[in-house]
Amino acid sequence: MRTLVFIASPHKNGNTAILLKHFLEGVSGEIEIINVYNINVKPCTDCKYCYNHKECVLKDDMTDIYKKIESSDNIVIASPVYFSFVPAPLKVVIDRLQVNWSGKFIRRDFSQNLNKKVGILIMTAGSNTKNVFEPIEYALKQFFSVTGSEFSYKIYAVNTDNVPIEKNEEIKKKAFEIGKNISFQMNKPAE
Ligand SMILES: Cc1cc2nc3c(=O)[nH]c(=O)nc-3n(C[C@H](O)[C@H](O)[C@H](O)COP(=O)(O)O)c2cc1C
Repeated sequence: MRTLVFIASPHKNGNTAILLKHFLEGVSGEIEIINVYNINVKPCTDCKYCYNHKECVLKDDMTDIYKKIESSDNIVIASPVYFSFVPAPLKVVIDRLQVNWSGKFIRRDFSQNLNKKVGILIMTAGSNTKNVFEPIEYALKQFFSVTGSEFSYKIYAVNTDNVPIEKNEEIKKKAFEIGKNISFQMNKPAE
């Protein structure tokens, strides 16, 4: 089992990284972590090259990332909330998946490895605002869809301004349990 993680926090030992660590302690198999702050990915320019080609015209770190997505069994997004959305470097990666979108809806390339992966969303928010994750969850369902993943698990932590993840035993335990679970049970529907 191969798990590919996109983490979108600039803090090495921040709330998101700690929550992710507890999740990954439960996960078996090969794990690759990509911090989107450390990669070179240019924004999509909607040039429509991918309408007729199986690849993006821009050649940067996404070239490898497309292949890594394709060959993964689990795809994890771990992100803090930034102004009701994800931090900019993650949004850049998401937009570059236009290649996958056009493969599905424009080129009709059914050889893409679709609908086989498990999608996991891990998020932290400083505030205790009700429904703070809703806009992100809505958008990231599209991310999971174009990467051929079933959005299967979510681990959400609010109020990190007052209760940092390190002190939140309940959420750390939940993250570990879900990590363990994906090793056994793939494609469980999100609650
Ligand atoms: C630029 C920026 C925007 C933020 N926007 C929100 C927000 O809209 N809602 C919220 O609850 N927290 C917001 N936060 C707080 C972070 O989501 C929170 O501190 C998170 O746990 C940080 O994760 P990290 O420690 O992994 O970086 C924001 C923080 C920053 C730096």
